[in-house]
Amino acid sequence: MRLEGKHIILGVTGSIAAYKAAYLLRGLVKEGADVQVVMTPAAKEFITPVTMSALSGRPVISEFFAANDGTWHSHVDLGQWADLMLVAPITAATIAKMATGVCDNMLITTYLSAKCPVMIAPAMDLDMFCHPSTLKNMDTLRTYGNIILEPGEGELASGLHGKGRMQEPEQIVEEVIAFFNSKKKLLNKKVLVTAGPTYEKIDPVRFIGNYSSGKMGFAIAEELASQGADVVLVTGPVRLMTNHPNITRVDVESALEMLNVSKAEFPNTDAAIMCAAVADYRPATQADQKIKRVEKDLSIQLEATDDIAACLGTMKKEGQLLVGFALETQNEMNNAVAKLQKKNLDFIVLNSLQDKGAGFGVDTNKITILSKDNKAQKFELKQKTEVAADLVGKIVEEFAKM
Ligand code: C5P
Repeated sequence: MRLEGKHIILGVTGSIAAYKAAYLLRGLVKEGADVQVVMTPAAKEFITPVTMSALSGRPVISEFFAANDGTWHSHVDLGQWADLMLVAPITAATIAKMATGVCDNMLITTYLSAKCPVMIAPAMDLDMFCHPSTLKNMDTLRTYGNIILEPGEGELASGLHGKGRMQEPEQIVEEVIAFFNSKKKLLNKKVLVTAGPTYEKIDPVRFIGNYSSGKMGFAIAEELASQGADVVLVTGPVRLMTNHPNITRVDVESALEMLNVSKAEFPNTDAAIMCAAVADYRPATQADQKIKRVEKDLSIQLEATDDIAACLGTMKKEGQLLVGFALETQNEMNNAVAKLQKKNLDFIVLNSLQDKGAGFGVDTNKITILSKDNKAQKFELKQKTEVAADLVGKIVEEFAKM
């Protein structure tokens, strides 16, 4: 979860795009954020506070006083609590009030007391958006340091077409995450990640493969990218997508293809994380035509593939980090240490198929990171995205020591 521990005030104003605020709120909460929703009176005409309080797990604040017992909502405390105030959607009216300090509702008073950065996502008709007063007010907000998530062009609720569409909730969530990651720790670092299985062809329709889903490698690539690294993700056949702009994805099929791309990329990188489940053997010959069924048994001669991690281990230069994975079913520690040494790795990430929830296909993993100086760090069973954050944290620490 990329927003764990973050306190966010989500301001919602009276635009038809207010219905999208529910999706936005859900997206923020899913990423671990603690969200306090503040709605203007007009926003409540478009979406109910019940929806927003159910999704946030906190009563929505809208009035200066709670209706039932007269409790005073302290906008000052709220402004101090938040790490970010996000107003989405924001109308021309609220933009104008923020620019001029007309604090006639809870959202604007909170805005005036907020110590944290403020981000706004305008949503309005194109004529309102293009009106000189709106443009001037947004310029004023920029001078206050507020961040404006520019609306997109497209079909508007009014039926008109043009600029004024609020950014989609998913996009806004990514903007918020990018904002918190702006103290990125891996800027100017280039990292190679291998992921997924390899398929070794037997004939035009059959292959030898394995159950690797690629989820761990993709989670690592995304975590590295969100910390500012430039990532080359070399992946075997998987059903995963990634859209991060810092990730260059290279799709390969066989161990040999993965080896060739990895060897070509490694000299230009600061680190390589070998997460792929590479086949150790491939058919010695590949049939040009589909192999026909025969009455007797059939044997396929296998030959060893190259060990990509070990190959990069021989190429490794001063200042480069090489990280491998070890998926073991028995004698875990000893096997992992032997691999670390044999492949000239700096770290090896051990996961055992004996641990429930670890390994192929599942969304969780339980790892131990062993380093070449014989230190072992054990982690709890976690989501693969959190495991990726732990591992990337370790890499950040190691770079800091170099
Ligand atoms: O020896 P073993 O296959 O268990 O080692 C696992 C580690 O080595 C993983 O990091 C894996 O990505 C890497 N490896 C490789 N090329 C191979 C086999 C494994 O890069 N042919």
